[in-house]
Formats: sequence, C-alpha cells, structure tokens
Amino acid sequence: MARNKVTVIGAGNVGATTAQRIAEAGLADVVLVDIVEGLPQGKGLDLAEAAPVVTHDAQVRGTNDYADTADSDIVVVTSGLARQPGMSRDDLLTKNAGIVRSVVEQAAKASPNAILIVVTNPLDAMCHVAMEASGFPRERVIGMAGVLDSARFRTFIAQELAVSVEDTHAFVLGGHGDTMVPLSRYSTVAGVPITELLPADRVRALEERTANGGAEVVALLKTGSAFYAPAAGVFEMVESILLDRKRVLPCAVMLRGEFGVDGLFVGVPVVLGAAGMERVFEIELTDEERAAFQKSADAVRELVTVLGR
Ligand code: APR
Repeated sequence: MARNKVTVIGAGNVGATTAQRIAEAGLADVVLVDIVEGLPQGKGLDLAEAAPVVTHDAQVRGTNDYADTADSDIVVVTSGLARQPGMSRDDLLTKNAGIVRSVVEQAAKASPNAILIVVTNPLDAMCHVAMEASGFPRERVIGMAGVLDSARFRTFIAQELAVSVEDTHAFVLGGHGDTMVPLSRYSTVAGVPITELLPADRVRALEERTANGGAEVVALLKTGSAFYAPAAGVFEMVESILLDRKRVLPCAVMLRGEFGVDGLFVGVPVVLGAAGMERVFEIELTDEERAAFQKSADAVRELVTVLGR
C-alpha cells in the first residue's frame, strides 16, 4: 500500500516545520511547494537527508511545479506574506487573498479529491477564499487556528497549576483573532473545569494571554511570527484525518446554521476523520459565551465583506 501524500504550500517557517513533523512521524510523503525557486527544493533535500538519522522512510521533495503535487490526500496552505511596516490590515488581507486564491486553484486542479487545511492569515477569511477557489465542499476545507489557540491555553493552564500539559484540555472557539472565545467552563485539568480550580481573575488573565498569544510571540521575535506551535497544530489535524482518528478538535469550518451562524468560517469543535470535517460538534453555550461567539463571527464577517464576498 502506498503511503499517503501531503502537499505543503509555502516553504517558509510554518510550511517547512509542518513538512518536518509529518515526514519524521512517517505519516506521509511530503511535497513542499513555494513560489521562490530553489527554496522548497533546498529544504526538501535537507529534510530528506535527515531521514537516515531520524529513521523514517517518508519521501520529501521540494518543487515549484504543481504537477508534482498531483493526487495529494491533503494540501496544507501556508503561503502568504507577513504584515510589513506601513501595510494596513486590509492590504494584507487583499494580498494574501490573491496568493491563497492562486495556489488553491492550482493545487485543487492537481488534487481534486484532497482535503485542504488553511493556515495563512487572516485565517477565517482565507478559508472563504480557499473554498471558493477550490469549489470543494465544506467537509474538505478546514482552517487551522483553534488547535493552536487551545494549545496555547493549555500551556498557560499547565504552567499556572504546575501540572502536566497532558492532563489539560481546552476549547477556544470563534475567529482566529483578538475576538476569539476561550471557553474556560469547558477547559479542564483531569476533567475538572479550571473555573473550579482558579480564582476568576486568574482565569481571565489566562484567557487574555491566550487571545494575545500570537502577538506575544511576534513581539519577542521582532521579525516573523510563531511557527513551532502552528506546525504542531497542523500535524495534529493531518494525523486525525489520515489515520481516521475522529479526534474532536476546534477548527475553522463553514457553518450552516450551527451555533446560530450561517455562511461563515468560524472556529468550532469538529470531528476530523478520513472524510475531513465529518461533523460539527455542537455544545451548549451560556448567553454570555454565545454573545462573545457572535461578536467573533461578526469580526470574521467584516473581513469577508472587505474581500467583497
Ligand atoms: N506561491 C507559493 N508560495 C508563496 C507564494 C505563492 N504565490 N507567495 C508567498 N509564498 C511563500 C513565500 O515565498 C514564503 O516562503 O510563502 C512562504 C511564507 O513563509 P514565511 O514568510 O516564513 O511565513 P510563515 O511564518 O511560514 O507563515 C505563513 O502562516 O501562521 C500563518 O500568519 C502566518 O500567514 C502566515 C502563514
């Protein structure tokens, strides 16, 4: 039986680290694509040369040609520009929309049955572009944000309570931005909600640090943004799909009435398996949580409106 094939578009920090994780786990052969000539080939070769030492047999190769991506099971989209000084949020939105549209059109043509995982920011808006450019059904266009935001929340919970990260669980819903909704009531240590383990002001502080998690890393790095945790988030989704694990993970998906939202990509818990997004996992929200979720969905709608969709 042939190994699965995963294409990662964008051989930058997130793309290359994602390729490394997938290959080193022996989960799939990886094709790394970038617009810059030599960059994906060089990183692909370097990753392949690590294989004998790391001991895996997954093939990794880099290319600028979408023909090499044909018949991928999953296509991960990380290509895009970082926000430059002087560039407005809307400029970035329009530029990355153009990039995502162009790469998704080419990748979808080469792999018409693939599942798309979108990583490029602004995430929720880029999912809309990817769905339109691919013509894929909603089950096969999924945004990676909630897994990352939840991982950050879990990290902070574990540090605060001095417990293993493994025994933490967290849910962060909503758009991938300042309006994201960390759901503390459903965030637990060994099944116990953190709202019962920590005073309200500490819970609030952890929620705020989570919502600001991306910016905290950017402020430290000064050039560039986070990539280890984002790549780990993509890996978890790829693994759940390829191994049909049916993990329940927070992801950005096109809602069709679930959580009271229609026609927008917003982060919610979903079941990820061989068919992609197999089910939206609806949970009860309090009035306050629902209002925060709605506010977050409204922020996504604003970006999508700027794109004229
Ligand atoms: N086709 C293919 N690759 C492209 C294209 C294109 N049209 N345009 C840009 N790229 C490539 C760049 O050449 C670069 O190698 O996308 C890569 C982006 O890599 P980085 O600049 O290192 O950015 P990274 O940190 O990986 O983040 C990528 O993920 O988390 C998000 O906000 C982040 O949107 C950003 C994306």
